[in-house]
This record gives sequence, C-alpha cells and structure tokens, in this order.
Amino acid sequence: MALVDGFSHLVIQVTDLDRSEQFYQEVLGLDSVGRDLVNENGPNALLKTNTGQMVLLVQVPEVEPFRPNSNSIHHAWLLTVEQYRRAQERMKAFGYSIEDSREEFRAMGERSMDIYDPDGHRYQIQAHGPEATKIIRPSAGKVSCGKMDDFEVGSVTPFHQEMFFLVRLNEGFLALSSWCTHRNGRLKWEKEHWRFYCPFS
Ligand code: FES
Repeated sequence: MALVDGFSHLVIQVTDLDRSEQFYQEVLGLDSVGRDLVNENGPNALLKTNTGQMVLLVQVPEVEPFRPNSNSIHHAWLLTVEQYRRAQERMKAFGYSIEDSREEFRAMGERSMDIYDPDGHRYQIQAHGPEATKIIRPSAGKVSCGKMDDFEVGSVTPFHQEMFFLVRLNEGFLALSSWCTHRNGRLKWEKEHWRFYCPFS
C-alpha cells in the first residue's frame, strides 16, 4: 500500500471564474487564497478547506461535459455531523435542495446530499454519525406473520418493521435477520437474482 500524508488538491475546470469562486466560497464554505497563483493555461483561483486541502478553479472556454445520469464522476466531501448540519442550513438558505434522494440505500448514521456547482460538477456532501458503528443487538419476541398457507414454498417475505425475512421451505420456515451488522442498514431480497443483497458493502 502506498503511504501518503493526505490529499493535496483538486483542479476543477470552470467557465466563469467569478461565478464559481463565489459559489465555492459562499455555498461550499471554502476560503479564498488568491487569484492566478498557479501556472495554468487560463485565469485561476485558489481556495482551501479548513483542513488545508486546496481547490484550484481554472477558467476554460468549455468544461468537459459530465456524464448525465451517471454516479461515477463526482467528488465527495466528508464533514462532521455538526459541519454537515451547518452546510445544510447554508445550502438551504441559498436555495439548494438538501434532500437525500438515495436515503433508503444509506446505512444508519450515514448522511449525504448532492449539490452541483454552476458548471454542473457534482459534489456529494457526507457525514457519518456515531450510529453508523453502534452495535445493535437483535431483539426477540413473537411476531404474528399470518397463516402458513399464505406462504408458498420457496417464497421469501420481508417483514420490514420487524426486520427479518420469512423463508418458506418444504420442511417449514426460516426467519432470517434482514439487518447488516457491518454498516447498520437493511438488506434487500432480490428475487430476480435469488440473493440477499447488502447495498452498503
Ligand atoms: S456491509 Fe452489509 S453485509 Fe457487509
């Protein structure tokens, strides 16, 4: 494994330096270091995060188009829960959506929202709370699942509230926990793939 001390900087192409510099300062909360400090082909602005990483904005006539409907090209910022809460307030005040469109796929304690800069660069703002690593012990008790004949042999029925899957076998029933204990989240039953799937792995 290569050893590094940390992440140094990120270079972002923008089409309007003034507009983008304002966005990175006001909305993302970065500090301005200065203009044209770096030998790049084009006007540039250097900003830094409170942890010392740099973001260099370089003005170009046209930015590389990001791939629509793709999750693969983006950058993510990891904040503390308190910083995340403050970022939500700030972004909301600027009229940005602070909803998490993929909330159902998040592990417990994982917070995330997406935001786009003026050129369409996507940023994921994330925070992991202490709940993410809390050990949650399964509880025990009786659950009324309905009549035996309601379940076909081979069926897998999720009980969301109670957090288990009821599996009907030839020989009887199995109750399997639907809770991922690595990341504290709910597994899914994917009938078409004949598998239990963990979206957090
Ligand atoms: S992360 Fe969910 S099963 Fe391992």
